[in-house]
Amino acid sequence: MEKSAKINVKNYRNIVVLTGAGISVASGIAPFRGPGGTWTEKDIDECATAQALRRDPRKVWEAFAFVRDKANKVEPNAAHKALAELESKHPNTWILTQNIDGLHQKAGSHNVIELHGTIHRSQCTRYCSDAFEDKAIEFHNCEKCGAPLRYDIVLFNENLDSEVIYKSRDLLEHADLFLVVGTSGIVYPAAGFVPVAKHAGAHVVIVNLEELHYGKGIEQINGKAEEILPSLFDYT
Ligand code: APR
Repeated sequence: MEKSAKINVKNYRNIVVLTGAGISVASGIAPFRGPGGTWTEKDIDECATAQALRRDPRKVWEAFAFVRDKANKVEPNAAHKALAELESKHPNTWILTQNIDGLHQKAGSHNVIELHGTIHRSQCTRYCSDAFEDKAIEFHNCEKCGAPLRYDIVLFNENLDSEVIYKSRDLLEHADLFLVVGTSGIVYPAAGFVPVAKHAGAHVVIVNLEELHYGKGIEQINGKAEEILPSLFDYT
């Protein structure tokens, strides 16, 4: 599809948008892969797995503390705002985000499912109570039981919340437009969402800086999300 392509919103009833790190790059949050990416500079096995958390919770905390620090300081960009506007004009719009930065909500989106949790909450590694809102970026211990805290995010080799999976599947199976923005599409389960939506009959459109290899029947617009999304939706 051309960069100037339009999506006529009134042709769709159930709109689902999957977002990844690429949508927050223009806000100043690094992506995970590629030049300057978090996993280009840090080792996943050392600091982002369930095993790493058991071995060294401080290291895992410190590997993600910069995301909380950044997310507390930065603002949503034009791409986040365009999706918030989409929901305000077409309330049956849902965002499934792999991002943990909270920028969709800050932009005004309400129907947001955080597949990988959020950096804005912490949780005791002994799970002695519910996760709670937390602004701290320094590693600290649970006030109740003294065990180390962790961010309320999903690490590699951890399961996603089962309600989150159930709700996402349900939305995808009923979607007639599925937009995928700024994700390399290699981490499951989100990596499997395109075939599910396609199978359900949705019109699938990918907006990504680089071309991705999804095969036939999947339209792509290659460029920056913050430049494409603000003029992508036709509300007439
Ligand atoms: N606009 C659109 N796309 C962009 C932009 C931009 N301005 N900048 C980068 N991209 C694209 C990149 O080309 C890449 O394809 O966004 C994608 C980002 O991919 P990743 O860094 O792999 O991020 P993501 O897909 O969200 O990662 C998935 O991996 O480590 C885990 O849990 C982490 O949620 C994360 C998951």
